Amino acid sequence: MKKLTTALLALTAASALALSGCSSDRGGSGAEETGGEEAAAGFAADATIGVALPQKTSENWVLAEELFNDGLTEAGFKPIVQFANGGVSEQQNQIQAMIEQGAEVIVVGAIDGSQLGAQLEAAHDAGIQVIAYDRLVKNTEAVDLYVAFDNFKVGELQGEALLQGLAERKGAGPYNIELIAGSPDDANSTPFFEGAMSVLQPKIDDGTLTVVSGQTTMEQAATQGWKAENAQKRMDTILSGSYSGGTELHGVLSPNDTLARAALTSVSQAGLPTPVITGQDSEVESVKSIVAGEQYSTIYKDTRELVAESIRQVQLAQAGDEFEANDTESYDNGVKVVPAFLLDPVIVTQENAAEVYANDPTLGPLTEG
Ligand code: BGC
Repeated sequence: MKKLTTALLALTAASALALSGCSSDRGGSGAEETGGEEAAAGFAADATIGVALPQKTSENWVLAEELFNDGLTEAGFKPIVQFANGGVSEQQNQIQAMIEQGAEVIVVGAIDGSQLGAQLEAAHDAGIQVIAYDRLVKNTEAVDLYVAFDNFKVGELQGEALLQGLAERKGAGPYNIELIAGSPDDANSTPFFEGAMSVLQPKIDDGTLTVVSGQTTMEQAATQGWKAENAQKRMDTILSGSYSGGTELHGVLSPNDTLARAALTSVSQAGLPTPVITGQDSEVESVKSIVAGEQYSTIYKDTRELVAESIRQVQLAQAGDEFEANDTESYDNGVKVVPAFLLDPVIVTQENAAEVYANDPTLGPLTEG
């Protein structure tokens, strides 16, 4: 039935184009109109919307589950929100099932951004629109929009915070640092790392910073599955190999809070002083640590905003409008530039925590007194 609708819509759209003799004037973003025919028609106000989330590797994903369920229900839709703790094949099966259950839009936070092509292409063939949520989906045409915080900017802010923290807490340089990167299968890990290195590399080149282990590439620094135990093990090895003879570790670039706390555990078990360390996600334990003067920084990516933006885009599609993008250049997924709607990440340190979290009911109180 859906196939038929899609075919009819395609016909209608084609004849509309033929009649007007020019391309569609919907949307001002200049974005490629993949899935545009479906967008022109909209769908039922109580449609099923699928949300495929990855594993619970950080608090933001857990929060997203509840926010999607509540927000989509409130907007009148029927949500199917699922985690894939079992890994990539579980996520593939879940997306397949969402197609069969008649979802009109599938929002996907990919575990492995390059392993969903077949499922998302099947979704497109069924007339379903696809939104990549937080993590880009790679090497497929079958993605219509990317909604995320600006990942490269996250990395830049982390690099800048590390330099600032070193100057504030470790006196004059030069400084010894180590680098941690995210999971290699997550499309975000590269922009996080490259953003940070765009700030740190010139300081490595001019001798201000030394990566004592010599592990400076993304491959060497990566943390499979974003798992704390993997980061902790690697840090243990680095500390015993490169810092056992009294060499001081001044700073660590960490891509998120979970891995920052893992690295801090490793350092404290080795009996070494706390290095300046970055993070991301504003997880409760890390915010407490920042307020207490241990972890140096985190990033605030308000999950409420990201989910609300995704739902707003679903509502546009429901009304038959085009998705809205504010960046049509940055996110090349290997086969096309995916139109993106990017939100601004915010750096948080002990100094501005109270101000940044003032409107967050969970984090705000952690900064008081
Ligand atoms: C998210 C980060 C998160 C990481 C691990 C990334 O894709 O953007 O916020 O820390 O996944 O869950």
